[in-house]
Amino acid sequence: MSQFKRHTITAALPYANGPLHIGHIAGAYLPADTYVRFLRLRGEDVVFICGSDEHGVAITLGAKKEGVSPRVFVDKYHHMMKKAFEDFGIGFDIYSRTSNPVHYETAQEFFKKIYDQNLFIEETSDQYYDEQEGIFLADRYIIGTCPNCGNPNAYGDQCEKCGTSLSPRQLINPRSTVSGNTPVLRPTRHWYFPLDKFENWLREWLIEGHKDWKTNVYGQCKSWLDQGLQPRSITRDLDWGIPVPLPDAEGKVLYVWFDAPIGYISATKELKPNDWEKYWKDPETRLIHFIGKDNIVFHCIIFPSMLKAAGDFILPDNVPANEFLNLEGDKLSTSRNHAVWLHEYLHDFPGRRDELRYVLTSISPEAKDADFTWKDYQQKVDSEMVSILGNFVNRVMVLTGKYFDGKVPAEQELPGTDDRRKKILTLYQQAHNDLNQAVKEMTACLKNFRFREAQFQMMNLARIGNKFLADTEPWKLAKEDMEAVAAILNYSLTIVGNIGLACEPFLPDGAASIRRQLNSDLFEVARKQFWQKEELVHVVAQGAALGTPELMYKKVEDADIEKQMERLRKTPLTAVPEAAHAVAATKALKPEIAFDDFSKLDIRIGEVVAAEKMEKSDKLLKLTVDDGLGRRTILSGIAKHYSADEMVGRQVTFIANLAPRKMMGIESQGMILMAEDNDGKLRLIRPTEDVAPGSTVS
Ligand code: 2FM
Ligand code: ZN
Repeated sequence: MSQFKRHTITAALPYANGPLHIGHIAGAYLPADTYVRFLRLRGEDVVFICGSDEHGVAITLGAKKEGVSPRVFVDKYHHMMKKAFEDFGIGFDIYSRTSNPVHYETAQEFFKKIYDQNLFIEETSDQYYDEQEGIFLADRYIIGTCPNCGNPNAYGDQCEKCGTSLSPRQLINPRSTVSGNTPVLRPTRHWYFPLDKFENWLREWLIEGHKDWKTNVYGQCKSWLDQGLQPRSITRDLDWGIPVPLPDAEGKVLYVWFDAPIGYISATKELKPNDWEKYWKDPETRLIHFIGKDNIVFHCIIFPSMLKAAGDFILPDNVPANEFLNLEGDKLSTSRNHAVWLHEYLHDFPGRRDELRYVLTSISPEAKDADFTWKDYQQKVDSEMVSILGNFVNRVMVLTGKYFDGKVPAEQELPGTDDRRKKILTLYQQAHNDLNQAVKEMTACLKNFRFREAQFQMMNLARIGNKFLADTEPWKLAKEDMEAVAAILNYSLTIVGNIGLACEPFLPDGAASIRRQLNSDLFEVARKQFWQKEELVHVVAQGAALGTPELMYKKVEDADIEKQMERLRKTPLTAVPEAAHAVAATKALKPEIAFDDFSKLDIRIGEVVAAEKMEKSDKLLKLTVDDGLGRRTILSGIAKHYSADEMVGRQVTFIANLAPRKMMGIESQGMILMAEDNDGKLRLIRPTEDVAPGSTVS
């Protein structure tokens, strides 16, 4: 058992600004869930905390793009994410949100606690301001060229290309992500957290005291500290966020990275209103943050300094941050839709949560970035989950059904000195040693956040089981030595049972299937023993009736993989970069077409000679168009953008060879081409000078 009395496990609060994808899952949530399951199996007292991060520019910009208020925006994504986590089986004790009142109170109290010690620096300085929008530009409201790597789309708080932490004034050629304009400087007052004052303490606590942290985490922290720490502004001029709890601070809110990590504490309060403090203040509690690598400095340097400043809080004992996951060799990207969305996966692959868990853990980006490919997914499901794990369990179940009528055969000593029995005993000894070794390694890896290797060792149990069956060949002994068959199958059932225990942190659905199949009364006791002793335990009782054999996993159809690949191919990888996207919100490009496809279109210029609004439709105008050859009727969905009167006499561009289509009883003989901007506003496309009706466009 551990030296700690209890565990507070947090997983990064994701921004409620879009659906979850496999990068999020592999980065923080799956390792955290696996670890929490492991702790619970060992009987530890654990709280597993998460929730939506609902403040900051990621939210306000997202809401603006969707044309809704931040409140409507976060509500939508909070519920969507909560459901996806639940459906995927991530077992948070609470999935809260930072817009909850308890969080407002907690974050404001936290601020006050530091403020009352006179630790904050209050300062007025010049900051970039967008005159058109009337807003100060901090964080992602501003982009420019990174002074470190030259990335032209670095954000005001960080360059995503080289990872450097930035302030807006460091950006070269800054521009507003809202209007695209070059900002001006204006004075504004803010509160700064004196991170520099914590430098010496951080060196001692982190650099000296946590050499055990993962190299990627430790290295990033060290390089931050080596560059020297500066006071950091922890307030913003925004109308969305937690108000700064001071009398003269109108229009000022807490910086999202000040309030979000406090969200872990608020969520614990919400979960355990009466005894939350023991999870945050008792030194016998072990605090662990699961995060992705872009969150390292916030969790290892800034939040610990805040906790230290606020006093009487425990500090993280470990922050096992993961690197990034790529998809089919390319960076996962929300704006380019280059992602495997969790809710879509769950829809397209119903009942196959374990498969995604398994594959993501097998490639977990623990030490370096990793790549998810659909081919690899299929290969791992087919050749490992089906052929090794599922197959072993099924063979043992079916053989026991066949030879012992589905009842656990007697454990046998196998006395005798004949070669056959000696061989079986040797194979049994060998399997037993190998299995115990694998269980020991698996638990050691789980303790050290090495989930990839841990899962590999779990799968080794099935590999060893398969080898034991293949070597002992009970089906060949059935005629001559049923005692030996009983011994082999009894032991094989024990292996199955132990696999059922070992896979609980990784494959909850598979574990449940094994439990159903073995149908053993000993399971609960065995589970306790297994995770405490870290060795093989008795799981089945002689004579007990087994459940019905199940096929735990099935192969992945080529067509299912092809469908996913096709979806990704449809999303071009060369679309707008993320930062520019924030400015232009441009739609992704459609897949490339051949010139021949284009030349099939007959695009012409016509002149509107008559126009009327269609009754019973608020969108359609009925246009009579002179096309150079005669007149044709075209129905166009532009009534919200142009009146019928406005249209008469105008030149329009239209597709002349589109098959006629009937709408509201009238045949439309073509399609007017329009430009649609990001707000859905339609504008006519026409020649800059009038041309003869019937002119072609090429
Ligand atoms: O990177 C992110 O998605 C942040 N919302 C993580 C916040 S973690 C914690 F501090 F709340
Ligand atoms: Zn850079």
